[in-house]
Amino acid sequence: MRRIYMDANATTPLLPEVLEAMRPWLLESFGNASSIHQHGQQARAAVEHARENVARLINCRESEIVFTSGGTESDNMALFGLVKPGDHVITSSIEHHAVLHAAERLQERGVVVTFLPVSSEGRVDPDDVRRALRPNTTLISVMMANNETGVIQPVKEIGQIAQDADIWFHTDAVQAAGKLPIDVKAIGCDLLSISGHKMHAPQGTGVLYVRRGTRIEPLFYGGAHERQRRAGTENVAGIVGLGKAAEIADDALRDGTMDGTAGSQVAALRDRLEQGILARVEDCAVNGAGVPRVPNTTNLRFDNLEGEALVIALDLKGLAVSGGSACMSGATEPSHVLTAMGLVSTSARASLRFSLTKLNSEKEVDAALELVPAAVRRLRELAPVNAGTLG
Ligand SMILES: Cc1ncc(COP(=O)(O)O)c(C=O)c1O
Repeated sequence: MRRIYMDANATTPLLPEVLEAMRPWLLESFGNASSIHQHGQQARAAVEHARENVARLINCRESEIVFTSGGTESDNMALFGLVKPGDHVITSSIEHHAVLHAAERLQERGVVVTFLPVSSEGRVDPDDVRRALRPNTTLISVMMANNETGVIQPVKEIGQIAQDADIWFHTDAVQAAGKLPIDVKAIGCDLLSISGHKMHAPQGTGVLYVRRGTRIEPLFYGGAHERQRRAGTENVAGIVGLGKAAEIADDALRDGTMDGTAGSQVAALRDRLEQGILARVEDCAVNGAGVPRVPNTTNLRFDNLEGEALVIALDLKGLAVSGGSACMSGATEPSHVLTAMGLVSTSARASLRFSLTKLNSEKEVDAALELVPAAVRRLRELAPVNAGTLG
C-alpha cells in the first residue's frame, strides 16, 4: 500500500535538497563552530550562511536570528526571557501548548495572564487585545497562524497595538513560516518563533527572531553562543538544514508555488480536497471557514462520528491525518482550539485536520476523496454518535 501523508502541521518530511546540504556536516565536516581552527571556521561559515537565509525569509538582520532546538524552545524563551513577576501578559486561548503552558507557569510565578477568547471562526479580535491592556502589560503573544485550523491571526493590527502601547509583541509563526510571506518589520513584532520540522528541515531545529535592542534573558547558561542569547554548541547540520529549507521556502514564496493566493499549488490541492469532501459527505463543515487561512490546512467537522475512530480507519487505509482531540494524561480531551471556537465536545472530537505540502499530488487528493467518504459512511453506520449531547 502506498501511504499518503496529509499531516504536515505535525511534521514535514525532509526535502532531498535539505538532506544533501546537511550530509557533509553529519559526516566529514564535523567541526565545532566555536573552534578557531579550519574545521571550526568551516562550521562557523555554514552556520552564518544558514543565518543569512533565515534572515531573508523573515526580512530581518542576521544578528537578530537565534538558533534554538525548535518551536517549543523559541516560545519558552520569548515568554520566560522577558517577563517578570508583577507583569501582565496578553495571549490567546488558541495558542499552542508551548505558549499556553509556559503562560500558565508564569502565572504560578506571579505574572498575571489574560487568555483572550476567539470568534467562532477562530480569530482573535484586535479590539479585545486593546481592551485587555493594563498599565503593567509588558508582553502580547499571539500566534500568526493556528496549527489546527490554519486560521491566520491579525498580527499586523496587534503589532500596531503593541507599538502604540510600547510593549513587546511575540508571535508564534511556527505554522506560518514557509507558508506565508513573513516580514517582521511589517508585522511590528519584537520576537517571532519558527520551527524547522514544519518546513522540511529536521526535527529539533528552530529560530527565535529577537529584534535588535530587545534585552532577553537566556533560558540556558553556558558559553557565549548565539550572542549570549542561547548557550550550547550549535547543531551545525540541523542549522544548515534549516537554512536550506528557508532558502527553498523563500524561493517558493516568491515564485507563487507556496503563497496563499488562489491557484497556488498547495492552496489548489487543499481546496480540491476540501470542496471534494464537502460535496461527497453529508453533515460536514469547515472549522474556520470564511476567514483567511494558511494555504495547506483544512479542519473538517464530520457530525455524528468519533473523529479518533476516523483517524484510525483512514490510517488503516493508508491515509495519515490528525484528529481534533489530544491525548492528555492518558485521556482524550477535545481540542482546546476548537472548544475555544465554541464547538461542543462531540463536534470538536468529530473534527479532523488535513494538512498538505507541495509534495502531495492531485492523485493523492483524489485517493483521499475516495477513502474519506467511504470511511465516514462505514463508521456512521457502525456506531452513530448523537452529536451535541455531551456538551
Ligand atoms: C503553532 C506551534 N507552535 C509551536 C510548536 C512547537 O514546535 P516544535 O515541535 O518545534 O517544538 C508547534 C508544533 O506543533 C506548533 O504547531
